[in-house]
Amino acid sequence: MTSVEQNIVDFPSRRAGCPFPPPEYAEIRAQPGLVKATLSEGRTVWLVTRHEDVRTVLTDRRISSNPTHDGFPNFGRTGGVPAPDQVPGWFVGMDPPEHGRFRKTLIPEFTVRKIKELRPHIQRVVDGRVDAMLAAGNSADLVADFALPVPSLVITALLGVPYADHDFFEAKTRTLVSFASTDDEREAAGKHILRYITRLITLKQQRPADDLLSRLLASATMTPQELSGVVMLLLIAGHETTANNISLGVVTLLSHQEWLGDTRVVEELLRLHSVADLVALRVAVEDVEIGGQLVKAGEGIVPLVAAANHDADAFACPARFDPARAARHHVAFGYGVHQCLGQNLVRAEMEIAFQTLFSRIPTLEIAAPLEDLPFKYDGVLFGLHALPVKW
Ligand code: HEM
Repeated sequence: MTSVEQNIVDFPSRRAGCPFPPPEYAEIRAQPGLVKATLSEGRTVWLVTRHEDVRTVLTDRRISSNPTHDGFPNFGRTGGVPAPDQVPGWFVGMDPPEHGRFRKTLIPEFTVRKIKELRPHIQRVVDGRVDAMLAAGNSADLVADFALPVPSLVITALLGVPYADHDFFEAKTRTLVSFASTDDEREAAGKHILRYITRLITLKQQRPADDLLSRLLASATMTPQELSGVVMLLLIAGHETTANNISLGVVTLLSHQEWLGDTRVVEELLRLHSVADLVALRVAVEDVEIGGQLVKAGEGIVPLVAAANHDADAFACPARFDPARAARHHVAFGYGVHQCLGQNLVRAEMEIAFQTLFSRIPTLEIAAPLEDLPFKYDGVLFGLHALPVKW
């Protein structure tokens, strides 16, 4: 077993003024075994950077997703995410077999076929945003005017959440995922969203509609309290992540215009940007060996999906944008039982967003130098706070 002395103290590392993962990841990956990092509140965790090791962590049953275990690598006291004991139905924080009950109920709603049926709706949403941008003049903030409203409009319609409340839940989600928020602010944001959804469920009980929330209520597969947690998870997971991928995707595609119109860009952009690098957190519940390193029961593990997606052993010349490579084995959506439930939806949204945006606004360009763009260095999700564009 390899014992590693190196301890990264300024973790999470910062991306270097561009949409690509922090340069330190390559150095960490080159070390034998695993490397330890110290989180802001002093807790140490194991960083996992090799593609093969990340997949091992995400599939080993001796490693748990449950944040109530001692040693779980929360960023801050709550980690920005509630635990299933606080929010019943928060199944991303559960282990099998408990997790499977929720996952099985939801899978039929997110199959390739279901998402195909949604495509005309997604197209209408995207066209509506492009119409609004064109009507407003010849410049826009692509995040506020396009990248964020598209997935927000789609997920709210799918769930049955009123889009009119988007300012509320988008702001609360920003608080939840930001390192700049205090623990109290994050806890309050989580409680506000939960209270809002609980009220919505009461309304749907009185007046069911043709939406996922009403269907889940009618199926009676979970309690209303569990349903609140499930809807909260889908609402939070369903907009900010995709928005970041759309805005970063536009930046990368504008400097690789030879690929415009090719649907293979979607998988490669997901790999290249890996926005949810710090999302899949774990803790060992038994001793386990990962990448030649003994990880003891009770030790936290951070499988860095961006590092795995830039491992040259899995993707040749990983920093190169090459949609022709077969990147489907990337782990941008995680791996194993918790692999992203919304991935088919994301692929459809990104494909339709890029096709429509670049065909309807062919002269689109970024209205600021790349180094001046406000990248998100302050939260668990990487992305852009704003993206000034003109045409
Ligand atoms: C580009 C956008 C997205 C990325 C990069 C992303 C990434 C991820 C990752 C890495 C995980 C694994 C977490 C873990 O293992 O602990 C995950 C899980 C999950 N994602 Fe996504 N996600 C995206 C969009 C979405 C959307 C649109 C939805 C909503 C429908 C969604 C719903 C979920 C849910 C419910 C889980 C938990 C699944 C489970 O525990 O079984 N995600 N996502």
